[in-house]
Amino acid sequence: MSEAMPLLEARDLVKTFPGVRALDGVSLRAYRGEVHALLGENGAGKSTLLKALFGAHRPDSGTILVDGEPVAFAAPSDAIQRGIAMVHQELSLVPQLDAVHNVVLGREDARAGVISWRKARKEALPALAKLGFTASPSTPVGRLSVAQQQLVELARAVATGARLIIMDEPTASLTTHESDQLFAVIRQLRDQGVAIVYVSHRLPEVLDLADRVTVLRDGSTVAELERSAVDGESHLVRLMVGRELDAIGLPRTREPGEVYLEVDELSVPGMVHDVSLAVRRGEIVGMAGMVGAGRSEFALGLIGALPSHARGVRIGGRPRVIRNPGQAIAAGIAYLPEDRKHQGLDLKLSIASNVTLPDPPGVLGLLDRRKQREVAARVMADLGSKTAVRAAAGSLSGGNQQKIVVGRWLLRDSDVYIFDEPTRGIDVGAKGEIHRLMRGLADQGKAIIMISSDLPEVLGMSDRILVMRRGCIVADVSRADATEEVIVAHAAG
Ligand SMILES: Nc1ncnc2c1ncn2[C@@H]1O[C@H](COP(=O)(O)OP(=O)(O)OP(=O)(O)O)[C@@H](O)[C@H]1O
Ligand SMILES: [Mg+2]
Repeated sequence: MSEAMPLLEARDLVKTFPGVRALDGVSLRAYRGEVHALLGENGAGKSTLLKALFGAHRPDSGTILVDGEPVAFAAPSDAIQRGIAMVHQELSLVPQLDAVHNVVLGREDARAGVISWRKARKEALPALAKLGFTASPSTPVGRLSVAQQQLVELARAVATGARLIIMDEPTASLTTHESDQLFAVIRQLRDQGVAIVYVSHRLPEVLDLADRVTVLRDGSTVAELERSAVDGESHLVRLMVGRELDAIGLPRTREPGEVYLEVDELSVPGMVHDVSLAVRRGEIVGMAGMVGAGRSEFALGLIGALPSHARGVRIGGRPRVIRNPGQAIAAGIAYLPEDRKHQGLDLKLSIASNVTLPDPPGVLGLLDRRKQREVAARVMADLGSKTAVRAAAGSLSGGNQQKIVVGRWLLRDSDVYIFDEPTRGIDVGAKGEIHRLMRGLADQGKAIIMISSDLPEVLGMSDRILVMRRGCIVADVSRADATEEVIVAHAAG
């Protein structure tokens, strides 16, 4: 690969937040026509680095060079002017507007307050088409899939003529199939000479896509490697974590007990059609399928968060009618939602308060703060977060914020657990810990449903796999018969 001048280079960047040195001498070089993967555990400093490159954070010290020339970005607009675009993980689209308007957002030519839609279409449609955007360009983007929304964000970057596109975990909410589509687009941009810097916790895809890899640990660059110098996933894991990790997959230690959760013909109008299933005590049932197959909708219907009707739901042999999430909790069902952004994290409150939110420890309504901190500290440490639990939740990295929500549900004492994408956005080390805790719950006799788009996770963790397609269960595959090919074939139909 070229030893030419990097399009963008960061040297020895330092960035401190009160009490935390988020970047502690980070370096990174991005070249034209290369896909550069940025790796590291939760809290390693990836997002902080990207924000510094995009002018959203001002580093305390260090240098950023564009085309070999030092720059000092005061704001993202300065970065955009130098041809740098960022696709945020929390998509920054306006949900009520259609794709065309989102692509040209903030750059429309307004004439006496009248915007030239014709010009907007002329600019946006080719960019969208080039990226394989297949939805209607006049549908409000809020109604599109995450994958299609991401393409709109990318189209916006492309339309600004960006030479460097920064992406923070673009595939975190995508299925394998959707990620593949995004990768095709990324490769196309790369072949046109665009530089791409992207963050991912999914190592197989990194090996597949990246030309160069930078690994951060505790705010420092520990390695910059060309793809050809990377010796498999375990090499990357060692660089990130500093030790070897076990493969995914925890065999159960006891045979499943009696059937505990029984769902008979549950439907969510328009989304889920007559889904029946049974989960035994001690069993982890995986639910695979594409995004939009109705897996989360099934769970939301079951707990009464979406309008649903069923012929019957029995828990521990007792018929139950669940009309709202409160009744679900009372019936002993804990649901870890997929959409963790809106799961009541109060970013201003402490980590401890957030973890113990559903049932704060104490007696007669008096909060036992010491116990609260103890309980929270234990589960967060188990999940690999090093931040003191008195700190505000908002001061955590994206992945560590997810751990709060996961920890909260792991702490609930329920009989049925539904985990929806439990390890999305969570680094490889903590992922193994979540798997261990899930298996532990099963071994205590809990009935567990795990919805996951991470196939190795589904294959490694599930005692049995249900595949959903278009709102129906289309296959029930035993652990012994399950392979990636079998699952994908059922999911795609
Ligand atoms: N606004 C902030 N205030 C205080 N500390 C912060 C703030 N933003 C980030 N940090 C801290 O800086 C460190 C790096 O966070 P960063 O978000 O860059 O991690 P990351 O590598 O992106 O992790 P993840 O994989 O979880 O997204 C963490 O210790 C985090 O708690
Ligand atoms: Mg991050």
